[in-house]
Amino acid sequence: MSATARKTAPLPDDIRAMKGRAPIVSLTAYTTPMAAMMDAACDFVLVGDSVGMVLHGLPSTLGVTMEMMILHGQAVARGLSRAMLVVDMPFGSYEESPAQAFSNAARLMRETGAAAVKLEGGQHMAGTIAFLKARGVPVMAHIGLTPQSVNTLGGYKVQGRGAAGEALLADARAVADAGAFAVVLEKLPSPLADRITAEIAIPTIGIGAGAGCDGQILVVDDMLGLFTAFKPKFVRRYATLGADAEAAIAAYAEDVRARRFPAPEHEFSEEVSK
Ligand code: KIV
Repeated sequence: MSATARKTAPLPDDIRAMKGRAPIVSLTAYTTPMAAMMDAACDFVLVGDSVGMVLHGLPSTLGVTMEMMILHGQAVARGLSRAMLVVDMPFGSYEESPAQAFSNAARLMRETGAAAVKLEGGQHMAGTIAFLKARGVPVMAHIGLTPQSVNTLGGYKVQGRGAAGEALLADARAVADAGAFAVVLEKLPSPLADRITAEIAIPTIGIGAGAGCDGQILVVDDMLGLFTAFKPKFVRRYATLGADAEAAIAAYAEDVRARRFPAPEHEFSEEVSK
């Protein structure tokens, strides 16, 4: 599918201009109906590579492919008419060279209609961010806990505690100077996130980075209680849809076994009108 950009959606510059004016609201989405449900409430919607863990049962985001991001990006685009669409660049699609990053970012934007891409990394990705921006690709950066580096970070730990905070501050400055229009701060101490937010000119989007960020993002299945394998400390569950779904499925199974479903109102008769 070749998607065309939606005319009314905000652009990366509009999101950037929200810094200091209004909190930026965002969630991840992977499907059309979920995207449609959040379209009016969110400023931007991210097709995160978390899709691999949340919907495909992968043990980490490392197995996510360009094809998965495009398929879910297209699905989410069909559900949005107002919020801006951002699609994650999956592991291995941008790290090798700026040219590799451009060709995959352009493919993601062309085939999904996304207004921007997100990639993980700070100072070491600054050259790539500048290269992409100069060629028409708006980039949201992602620093702190970067799940694609789980094997070199030694797990899903809080990042930037103590002296390591200076390196994260340098990462934030580097991606802002390189031209990223926003930066996700994942799982870092709130005082450090506050300092970064105060010191850089682009919006910070927090996930486990405290209330002082310019905006917030959560994985939608976490906040709806649909993904229950584990609950990170930074997640507030606004619903218990996973438990509700399990109870509904158990009730259906009981009804079928007891021959209570289908009931007469669910059946068709020989008469054409009924
Ligand atoms: O993949 C994802 O869902 C993300 C968000 C957690 C920011 O990168």
